Parts: sequence; C-alpha cells; structure tokens
Amino acid sequence: MASAAETIKERLGIVEVVSSYVKIEKAGSNHKGRCPFHHEKSPSFFVSPGRGSYYCFGCGAKGDIFTFVQEFEKVDFVGALKILAERAGVELEQFKNEKKGEYDRLRDVLELSTKFFEYELTKNSKALQYLKDRGLSDAMIKEWRIGFAPNEWRNIHDFLLTKKVSISDMELVGLVKKSDKEGGRGETVYDRFRSRVMFPLFDPSSRVIGYSGRIFGIPDTEGPKYLNSPDTPLFNKSETLYGYHKAKEGIREHQYAILVEGQMDLLMCHQSGFTNTVATSGTSLTPQHLEKLKRHTDNLKIVYDADKAGLKATLRAWTGAIALGMNVKIAGLPNGEDPASMLLKDKEGFKLALKNSKHIIDYYIEILSKEGLSNPNFRKAVEKEVLPYVAVVDSAIERSNFISKVSVQTGIYESDIREEVEKIRSSPTFVNGNIAPSKDSTTSYSKDEDTISIIRKTFTSYASDTTTIKRVAGLILWLRSKGEDAKANSVLSDVSRIVSQQDATFFTEDLKKAPEELIFEAEILFAGSTKLDEEIAELLFGLEERTLKEQLSKTMLDLQLAEKKGDKEKGEELIKQCQDISLKLTALNKKRNI
Ligand code: GTP
Ligand code: MN
Repeated sequence: MASAAETIKERLGIVEVVSSYVKIEKAGSNHKGRCPFHHEKSPSFFVSPGRGSYYCFGCGAKGDIFTFVQEFEKVDFVGALKILAERAGVELEQFKNEKKGEYDRLRDVLELSTKFFEYELTKNSKALQYLKDRGLSDAMIKEWRIGFAPNEWRNIHDFLLTKKVSISDMELVGLVKKSDKEGGRGETVYDRFRSRVMFPLFDPSSRVIGYSGRIFGIPDTEGPKYLNSPDTPLFNKSETLYGYHKAKEGIREHQYAILVEGQMDLLMCHQSGFTNTVATSGTSLTPQHLEKLKRHTDNLKIVYDADKAGLKATLRAWTGAIALGMNVKIAGLPNGEDPASMLLKDKEGFKLALKNSKHIIDYYIEILSKEGLSNPNFRKAVEKEVLPYVAVVDSAIERSNFISKVSVQTGIYESDIREEVEKIRSSPTFVNGNIAPSKDSTTSYSKDEDTISIIRKTFTSYASDTTTIKRVAGLILWLRSKGEDAKANSVLSDVSRIVSQQDATFFTEDLKKAPEELIFEAEILFAGSTKLDEEIAELLFGLEERTLKEQLSKTMLDLQLAEKKGDKEKGEELIKQCQDISLKLTALNKKRNI
C-alpha cells in the first residue's frame, strides 16, 4: 500500500506543481528556471521529474512537491498536504472527521456577497466614476473585485436570504449586525456596510475573508470614513495585510516590501507597477503583519501620508520592524500627499521618493526642519524626539555618524549630543522602553549573543532544512508510537552522531514535547512506505549535510572575524577547518549518490 503522500506524488508530478508557481523550461531531462527562493538573474533552479525533486545551485534550496509548496506558500507540512491533496483529488483519511465545513461555508457566503457588491457597483455610475477619478482602471476594479454596498438597511441581508444563507452565518462573517435596541417588530438585524465602496480583503490564496468599506454618497458624519469587517473566524485584522495575496511574488522578486497605509494607496501602487506593496488598511502595524513580510524579505520601505498622523504611524511601524531585525527605510512625500495622490499626478516623483528613501533619523530631522520652528524650538524637538532613535542604533560607528549629522543640522555640539544619547542608552527603561533596540542587519555570531538566539537564527536562516530536522524528529516519534523502539533508538543514535551539541539539545527537547503534528507528518510520509529504510537513510543524509553546511558557514564567519582582527594564526587554522568540512561534504554527497 502506498502512503497518502506517495499517492499524491504519483498523481502530481514535480514539474506540474512547480510550473504552476514559477516559469520553468525544459533543459535536457530536467527543467530549469529562476529560483523562487532567492533573487537571481540567470536560472540556477533545476527540477528533476525523474527524482521528483528540485534543487537550486544558487541557494541550495531543495526538496519535493511538499517542501516546495511549504516554502512557497509559507505553510506547514499539513497545509501543503491539504493544498496538494485537493489538487490531486486524494481524500485524506486523517481529515475526514475534521470540522472544516464551517470555514468553507463562510467563504461561500463571502463569495456570494462579493459577487453581489461587484454587481451593485456596475449599477452605481457615481461610485464607479469616483473610483475612476481617483485613478483606478477598469481592469484594477475587476481584478481587486471592488464593489458597492447600497444605502439600504437590509440589502445584502435580503439577497443572502434568497440564497438560503442563515442569519447566523451572515453575522459570523460580519455582514450583518444585531440591532442594540429591541425593535419590537421582529427586525433585529441590519447590514453593517451601507453606502460604501467595498474593498474585499483576501487571504493568501486570494479568497475573500472580509471587507473594508469606504463611505460614499452620504455625509462623512454618518459613520467612520472606512469601516472594516470585525474579527471573524476567517478574518483577523492584526494578521491581514491588504494586497498581500498579490504582493508575495513581487516582494520576493524585488527583495523588499513597500508598506503603505490605505486601500487607495495600495491599489494605485499595484496599478503603477509597484507590485511589492502591502497596506495595513486602518489598523496599526502588528508583529504578526511584520512576521508575514519577513517570510519573504528583511527589507522594508515605508511610505505613509506626509502629515502629522502619518509621521506618528511611521515611527511606530519603524520601531516594530526594527525590533524584528528588519532593515527599514522611509520614503518621504511632499507635504500633504499620500502615495495614491502622488501616483496620480507624478509617478516619477513617487519613484524618486522610493529611491531616495532614508533612515528614520534623517527623515525625522528633515520633517522637523520643514516645520518652520524657531531655532531653539527646533533643537528642543530634535533632542526630545529624534535622539531616542539615535540611541537605539546598535553600531557605535553608525551612531557616531548620526550624532555628527544631528550636530551639523542643529548646531548643537557633538559632545553634548553624545552625552545625551549615552544618557538615554544607560537609562534603565531603555531596553524595555517603547523603542526596541535595533538589531544589526548583518548576521554575525558575536560572543555575547546567547545560545538560544544563535539557535533561532540558525534555524530561521536554514528554513528549508528545518524541515529535515522536523521530519527526523517526527520519524523517531512515529516509530516509537508504533512500538518500534529499537528502530527509533537506532535513528536517534545516528542523529546524535550527526548533529551538533546545540541541535542535539533542541532535538531531545522537541522529542520530549512530542508534538502531534510531527508524528502526523511522519505518518503521512512514511506509513505504508515500500522503501522505508531508504527514505530514512536519505533523511539522515540530509540532516548531516545541513549540519556540515551550518558548521561551514559558522567557521567562515569566525574566519572573517579573525581576518578583521588581523589574527593570522587563527585565520589559517580556520581555513584548514573550512577545507575539512568541505571535504566531508563532498564525501557525503558521493556516498549519497551511490
Ligand atoms: P481616501 O480618501 O479613501 O483615499 O482615504 P485617505 O487617503 O484620505 O485616507 P487616510 O489617509 O485618512 O487613511 C488611510 C487609511 O486609513 C485608509 O485607507 C483606511 O484604511 C484607514 N482609515 C481611514 N479612516 C478610517 C476610519 O475612520 N476607520 C478605520 N478603521 N480606518 C480608517
Ligand atoms: Mn491617505
């Protein structure tokens, strides 16, 4: 009997799966294309239909259809499995009893309402004209499924009733609200969105999960300018970034993300070709938003409104992103503009603003200098508002640069600024204060960095190889769960031979926690496999390769440090170590291919 994973693999070829995401071309018995997992100009990403696997000579990404979908869609194994099972038409025993009906049903409701709002927009020429006047093309309106909710109390309500949608489902997805007062006439629910241009919000698979509705056709005093869906089983505002479903690829391609505030800003950016843009749309930026972006890039350019509120939001976003170790730059627009208005009148100007994006300190000083403050007030403002941002710069050299800059711009003595900055840095609230300490953008293993963060860094930088570790852990757990302790122990002893001390600790801790999903993943992968021993051997090869590569990159970093310090003796020793590890890697791959 074949395992579910084997069946799916048999039905869906690697070429079919990969080419549905990226462009690949036949090259001999393989296919090749540009790697979706790192930025490259010439193709070094190979897909082998024979082996059912892919490999990138540029970044070392490799795996099968499951790892590909995991990495590309940024889902876990189960997520990838579900996506591929559905595509292959394989029913998974394990999910039969899962309560998944509700999500599908709610998505169906939103699909119905989205179609309805789209249709309503075609009937409302004023709303349509408004969108066009703002600069949106017909194609964009269609692509982003923009619609209109008429100014009626039970419009979507009545429509959905004719489609046999229950009122409780309408309420669950946030389309209707229960009235606070008891009306006494039995009419207790009404439409949440009335007289609004409806911008659907999408999940990463482009399915509608909620709306942001902009008031239109009634006075602005009748409600908030923008009204968002409440949090529902499908929609969580602190996780959803408007435009993310379309921006993923653009972000990966350009290796940075543009962050804007509003719906219109986002749409105009995408329409103008800045397809790596996402928007927070009415909520402040959360760590969850940032984590999402960080899956694709560490580089962020923020372009918010050029006004006071915009600056405040910019500072907050900057702080959050810097705390996650991202590289952040701010693009400044002329006073009173936002990305949407700017793109409408001066696309080149917008491009230039992006190109000239600055560090927050430069940006902030520039803004303050434009405020027409008296000299003493300007100095005071810089001291109070800007210096905390200088203080969080980790690198002493960079901090020094900013201190000189502030000095030049304000006329305050450098020594006074330095003193002030040191005061902030040594204050007890500094680390836990509002401003998180900035992280150096380059990965380095400094001595005082604690072990846990080294591990974390290692694990995140070897994203695809974490899969290997997890799979091996799952395999051991699964073998144990079947009572095959002897085999489990032999795998475990192989593991402790292969992995470094740190990983071994991680491993045993993982095993102690016995996460169900690991076992589950192993079961799907290995249950009923006809060549289990071969698969185990391959997994262990992968683990060993990962460990060696990790040692290699660590040793190379040490080598760089030694060279910087001019420590020749140490340098030579480290070069020798690098060579040894490379030899081991070559030997391993030879053994593996026999
Ligand atoms: P448009 O005129 O539609 O372009 O909006 P704007 O650019 O004038 O909006 P503004 O810059 O004031 O706001 C930017 C974004 O903040 C909007 O796109 C919304 O996502 C959000 N926003 C604005 N007003 C509200 C509000 O009253 N409530 C909520 N929840 N969000 C709002
Ligand atoms: Mn705006």
